[in-house]
Formats: sequence, C-alpha cells, structure tokens
Amino acid sequence: MNRRAQLVTCGLPYTNGPCHIGHLRTYVPADYYVRFLRMCGEEMVFICGSDNHGTPIVVSAEEAKKSPREISEEFHHHFDATFRRMNIIFDHFGMTDDPTNHQRTKKIVESLIANGHVYAARIRQSFCTRCGRFLPDRYVEGICPHCESPARGDECDQGCGRHLEPGEIKEPTCLVCGTKAEFREQEHYFFRLSEFSKFLEAYLEGVAGTSNARNYALGWVKEGLRDWCITRTLEWGVKFPGREDLVVYVWVDAPIGYIAFTEEWAKKVGRSWREFWCGESTVTHFIGGDIIYHHAVFWPALLQGAGLAPSAAIVASGMVKIDDHKFSKSRGYVVWTNDDYLDQGFSPDYLRYYLLSYTNHTKELNFSWKVLAERVNHELVNTLGNFAYRTLHLATSGYGGVLSGEVDPAISHEIRRTIEEVTAAVKAYEFKEAVDRTMTLAAFGNTYIQTNAPWKLEKIDREAAKAVIRNCLQITKALALLVAPAMPDAAQRLWAMLGFEDEVFSHSLNEGLDPLPESQLPKPSPLFVKIEEKTLAERETLLQQRVEEAKKRGKKREVLTIEEFSKMDLRIGRVLSAEPVPRSSKLLVLKVDLGDEVRQIVSGIAQFYNPGEMVGRDVVVLANLQPARIFGIDSNGMILAAGDAASLLVPLREVPPGTKIR
Ligand code: 2FM
Ligand code: ZN
Repeated sequence: MNRRAQLVTCGLPYTNGPCHIGHLRTYVPADYYVRFLRMCGEEMVFICGSDNHGTPIVVSAEEAKKSPREISEEFHHHFDATFRRMNIIFDHFGMTDDPTNHQRTKKIVESLIANGHVYAARIRQSFCTRCGRFLPDRYVEGICPHCESPARGDECDQGCGRHLEPGEIKEPTCLVCGTKAEFREQEHYFFRLSEFSKFLEAYLEGVAGTSNARNYALGWVKEGLRDWCITRTLEWGVKFPGREDLVVYVWVDAPIGYIAFTEEWAKKVGRSWREFWCGESTVTHFIGGDIIYHHAVFWPALLQGAGLAPSAAIVASGMVKIDDHKFSKSRGYVVWTNDDYLDQGFSPDYLRYYLLSYTNHTKELNFSWKVLAERVNHELVNTLGNFAYRTLHLATSGYGGVLSGEVDPAISHEIRRTIEEVTAAVKAYEFKEAVDRTMTLAAFGNTYIQTNAPWKLEKIDREAAKAVIRNCLQITKALALLVAPAMPDAAQRLWAMLGFEDEVFSHSLNEGLDPLPESQLPKPSPLFVKIEEKTLAERETLLQQRVEEAKKRGKKREVLTIEEFSKMDLRIGRVLSAEPVPRSSKLLVLKVDLGDEVRQIVSGIAQFYNPGEMVGRDVVVLANLQPARIFGIDSNGMILAAGDAASLLVPLREVPPGTKIR
C-alpha cells in the first residue's frame, strides 16, 4: 500500500455541448481505477472540472446567442450532474473560468516569464478582412500543411492530428463568414518549448501510464520541437500578464485547471495542493488519445519551466466508433449519455461494463446497441446474475441464510488468485483484463454450482450441500467487492442481499476472503435484467434515423469553397437567335454571343418564352458545363433561370457579352 495519496485527473470537457459516449470512454475507466485502488487501501483524490475557455466555447456561445460564461455554467452543471448519474464521482469538479484558475494561471505564466522561458515575437496570423478580426484557432479552417487534410486553425483534426501553430494553416478561411482569410502580422508570446527537448525525452522514457502516450510523444519530441505560441487575440480567457488585448492559449490554462481544482479541493479538506504538484505525491492523467500531445509534451514542459513537478503517469484511451463508423456528432454517429441512454432507463452499470471490457484501454472501442444487449444478456444476466441469484436463492430458501463452517481452501485459493490478478491488471491499466478476470470468477462459480448441484446433493448429503452453498456464498461476496468499482449499483444491491447494511465501498477487496457472518439473508431478487429485443430494435432504429437525418441535413447545407465556386465559368451572353426544337414543346435552340465565341445552347424555356422575344436579350450562361446532345442537337452551355416558371436572370446594368460573373 502507498503511504502517500495519489491524485487522478480526467481530461476536462469543453462546456460547449452535452456529454456523450466519447467522454465516458475516458471517465469511466478513471473512475474504476480510483474506486478499485481505494478498495486496495490507497488514498486517492479524484479531480476534474470543465474547460471553459478557448474558441470552441466562444463559437458555440455566439451560435447560442449567450455569453461564454452563461454557456459554460450551463454545460458545467450538465456535466457535473451527468457524471454523477453515471456514478463517476469526483472529489471536486471545478471550472477553469473560476478565480482560482485565473490566479493560478497568472502566477504560473509569470514564473515562466521570470524563469526566461517566454519571449515576444511578431508572427503572421490569419485575419478576416470582412469580419475585421484576427482568426484564432477554431475561427479558421483550411488545409493542414503537414498532410494536406482539411484542418482547424490549431489542429489537424481530420488528418494527421498534429497541433498547428497560428499562421501555419494553408488556405485559411474565416469560419464565421466563409471569406478567404489573409495573413497579417501581430505580436504574440512564445514558450521556449524547443529548449525542453532533452528534459522531455528523459521524462517520457520514465513516465508511467499507457505506452501509446509515451511512444507518440517520444516520436514527436525526436522529430524536433518548435517554440509554442501561448497567446491568442480573444476577449474570453485568462489575460496574459500585462496585455489586456491578449489571453493565454486555452491549452495553457486548461491543464493549469488541474492544479487550480486541486487547490479548491485542498482548501475544502484542509490540505495543500503543493503535496501533489511539487513531487511529494503522484499525479495520473486520464485523457483521450487525441490530446496526448498537450499532456505529454506541452504540459510537462510547462510544469518543469514553472518549477513544479511533472506528472507521474499519462493514461490515454483509444477512440470510440459507433456501429463501426467514426464517431461524429454531425453525421449522427453518437450516443448521448442522457437522451439516448440514462433517460431511456438503462443502468449506468451496463455501459460502464461495456466501456471497461469491450477492448483494451488504448484500442479503438466500437459501440453498438446489439453488442451491448448481447453482453448484458449473456455475461451479466446469464453468468454473474445467474450465479449470484442461484446461490442466494438456495441459501435463503433451503437454509435461511449464511451457513456456519469453513470455506473450502480450494475456493479461497481461487478467490485470492482472482484478487491478485485483477489488482495487477488494474495497476497496469489493463481494465479489460481486470473485468474479464472478475467475470472468470463468476463463470467459475457457475460451473462449480452446476457441477456440485447442491439441490440434488441435499437429498443425499445435506452437510455436503451446505458446504457447496457456503463456498458459493463466499465467491458471491468476493464478486460483490470485485465488481463494485465497475458496477457500483449492482454491487451495492448484491452487498445488501448478502446481509450487509453498510456501503460496499467501505470495505476492502481482501475482505472477499473473510468468512461471511452467519445471518439471515433477505429474499434475493435478480441482479440484472435483460435488454429485450424490442428495446434493442428501438435504439437501433433511432440511431439509423439520426444518421439519415444528418445525411439529409448535410446535403442541404453542403457548402462550396470560394475555389469550388470559381470553377464555374459564369458569363453574360447575348442571344443572337432562337428557334424551336422540332418535336419538342419545351426546348429552344439558341445561338449565344459569349464575346469571343458564339455558342449553341439548347434550353428548356419554350413554354415560357417565344423564340422572338429571346433575341437580343442578355442572359447568364454557365459556359463550362459538359457539352451534351439534346434531341439530336449539340448543346454547349446552360442558360440560368429561377424557379418553375424559368424566370431568366439578367444583368441589372448593361455589360458586354462574355463578361465574367464573379
Ligand atoms: O480536448 C478537450 O476536450 C479539452 N477540453 C481537454 C482539456 S484537458 C486539460 F488539459 F485541461
Ligand atoms: Zn495533418
């Protein structure tokens, strides 16, 4: 057992949208880890909070016509409440916009400046002439300079995942008005990240946690680090010391939030935050795999530069897929924690179980309602639930409760082995292995009870039957303790069915080996309920509908870049002649002067215009439409008209034929 406390943090959710399964992929394992180690006797402090600054929040607040603080408070409360509903219980859940974090960030930035790690430089930054402002981070979209994928201002989110510095993005476009942005110079402040390469290499070689965090980060450090721009031209955020016009980049004040929230917690309980951030006790960060760079490169360098202790461990989870599709809120591949799951009456335990045991923590996790139903029905209901219910039913119906006598040493051995192996797996961040190994004990119990069939045995040897049930009760007790960190609600119910009146979490795992006190037991009830076919079908249909609707919305809202638009060769043309097309009531064949050439164009306007009234008119022509043969006549271009009655588009003032439309 560790004598010192361990601090565990979770990546802070942005306060610009509701909680979804992607968030839970990180928070559930972190909560499991904390609960489990507490049951091993370790002192754990579990800290999180909401991330309120940066352009994601400003953009969403503008859309919602709210202030960034209003929207932040709204989603802050939402996350706090949703985490509780999922039994993810933090010791403290703060806000990065609260005064503690403003003050702590200011102090840390000031010490970075005092320690010579910050300098000012003039840099090129995207600027929108139409909106008249600089475009930090998510205000700008363009092309990643590294992999040519579409990217956001500060991150190649659809391609190589690299962090992008201001001014790096290619072909920047203003997110608000769609105008092509230009680059303008402005003074900003830089952190001398490049000077931390040696330190980071050594740190990363030794940092605990999952290998993905360590290896990716080592790769980036070895590629070479560039200094990091740590200010932004925004109103919302923590002001850069001495500059009212600049705030610090959100990726500076967000991780400092971990410290500020520790301070807030420490104040409540009469401790000091320095215990954790000056090297005495350890800090472990649970994060999503998409923010490894920020936690394994920026953050340790900032801490080191400010004279604080870099964190001991970084545990990074893999990504989430929905029905084998990339997780995407806009494309409908999402499961909302409240609307889709908890509000539909599903137990938090089921989703916790799924998230922990679907695959290894660092691998991609696929969520499907079908697999959830299968796993709940087969593993939780048929294996764990069935074993516990049979045991308790036999004990209560035939024997009135817990039976006196010794537990078979072979059974105790099996329980001890399970506790040891599960503990080792949790400490190695192998949560799937830990939960699977726990379920192996349930399967062992099932086989044991089935093989020994105490319901038959009691007819020939009641003492032997009692011994089997006693053994099964001991396994049930161990299971209640072992599954508690994964499925707190089910474990608490099982604990009560074993005759305990207190909290399962006030006990240690090793008590799974202590004999149960002889007592009357209450009548048991099933621990889990099946997910029915009908419920499964409803969920699947809803997901499909959401994806279909997103597709329709996507089509409606499809936007063109200015480059795409400029591919259309639109010109003013003057109609030189117009004739009906034989055998067609709808078509006219026109000769159109495009300035440097005369085009033949077949147009479906015969029902609305006589050939005579067309001659001499100026019209809008799409000149680079693929040529076609219509009613046996070559057509090379298209006349533009509006609506069902083909109202022709005409220039307001006369311009020469061939004038380009821009
Ligand atoms: O990527 C995100 O969702 C960020 N809000 C995570 C911040 S974690 C920490 F550094 F504060
Ligand atoms: Zn890229």
